[in-house]
Amino acid sequence: MTETLGVYLRSGHDETRVGSLVRDRRDMIRFITDASYIELGEDRPVLSSSMLFVGDEERTVGHLKSGRFTQPGRDLPPWFGNLLPEGALRDMVSRGLPSGRTSDFDILRYLGEDLPGGVIVRSEDGVELDGLVTPSTEVATESGTIKFSLAGVQLKMSMLKQDERLTFPATGTNGDIIAKLPSTRYAFLPEVEFTCMKLAEAAGVVMPHCELVPAASVSGIRAEALSGGDYVLAVTRFDRTADGGRVHIEDFCQVMEVPKERKYTAANEETVMNIAKRLGGGTRGFLEIARRLAVNILMGNGDAHLKNHSLIYSDPRVGGISPAYDLVATFLYDGSDDLALKFRNTNNSAIVGMARFARAAELCGITENVVRKFVTHTVEQAADTWPALIGDLPMPADFAKKLVDRAQRLQLSGELNVSFAPGAAAD
Ligand SMILES: Nc1ncnc2c1ncn2[C@@H]1O[C@H](COP(=O)(O)OP(=O)(O)O)[C@@H](O)[C@H]1O
Ligand SMILES: [Mg+2]
Repeated sequence: MTETLGVYLRSGHDETRVGSLVRDRRDMIRFITDASYIELGEDRPVLSSSMLFVGDEERTVGHLKSGRFTQPGRDLPPWFGNLLPEGALRDMVSRGLPSGRTSDFDILRYLGEDLPGGVIVRSEDGVELDGLVTPSTEVATESGTIKFSLAGVQLKMSMLKQDERLTFPATGTNGDIIAKLPSTRYAFLPEVEFTCMKLAEAAGVVMPHCELVPAASVSGIRAEALSGGDYVLAVTRFDRTADGGRVHIEDFCQVMEVPKERKYTAANEETVMNIAKRLGGGTRGFLEIARRLAVNILMGNGDAHLKNHSLIYSDPRVGGISPAYDLVATFLYDGSDDLALKFRNTNNSAIVGMARFARAAELCGITENVVRKFVTHTVEQAADTWPALIGDLPMPADFAKKLVDRAQRLQLSGELNVSFAPGAAAD
């Protein structure tokens, strides 16, 4: 039979039907945009900036009717595939589904109300996978089921904060906090990520609210899933509002309409900056990405791939750069200086200097001096704040020393003549 999922976009509490995802008898999947959505004109809330040609409504309509989005295929269109969880979370979600019912299309149907951002997918063909779910002991929650989607490989849960406790919500309640669990593979990961978020914030990066919560204050998660450490990192979700509303987001794999498997390879840093400029707020968007790149270089974060950047639609008609997330000084674990994406033909963050930023500005049509000044300011602000701050943050002292020593030996620090040595902060 032909299966149909309705695709809706919620902004706050307002909902717009965007179109249908249809899987036909031969297992071909295609997205069909609603005429009513197309007719909204330039007032339409944006599902994806990949379909948006700012100031060119005719071209936008052309793409809505027959763009990459609407091309039929065996797999979900890449934009929708990117909504699904990755890694262990995906396995746990699919463990709840009946065998033979774990394709991307089925998982999307099952998670319909608990997807990232403002997108909601509803069964409109009478098929319900919900009632069939059997709790499994191999799932990290005490209920044995998981029904939300978050990409990324580290095990994490969408949870609720009640009083001082984190609670895994009963099915049907959306969590408004992402709880990143301790890892048995990477010691002190929540502590390191928390520290990195605070360091980035001190250098001017916009971060969501976050805190470390003792593992003992977490309910609804099996003890084994918390055994890797003493703390869980709780990050406030920027795609949910306190009153249960939604704020739409899409990651850069979605903006580029590439499958998540290409998150390291489909683009370089210049492309990310260019997208930020075109679709994420002009020069401001460009500079925000430049700032994050400088901070990632300084802290040794080698995992800022395309799914770790997002557009956010605080105004439903136009994207901006979302607050930052998933900042981890991966150098501390693997000793590598490599960036996730190439920056002017290199992955080596240690040799990146101001010339590369200037060249990226030129490519994106931004005055070179603006980016030079901005990046200089970011690096100086990091050097002024990190040495004192890092001692008060919960990262182990040997990690802190490694991070600061590394920051000191980088091309970028040398060129700007800054010092990360403790006590060397600005006079
Ligand atoms: N504060 C947040 N608000 C909303 N969505 C978020 C937030 N932080 C992360 N996400 C989403 O959840 C996904 C997984 O989170 P991330 O921190 O990247 O985990 P991982 O370390 O497993 O990659 C991200 O790709 C992003 O889409
Ligand atoms: Mg991630």
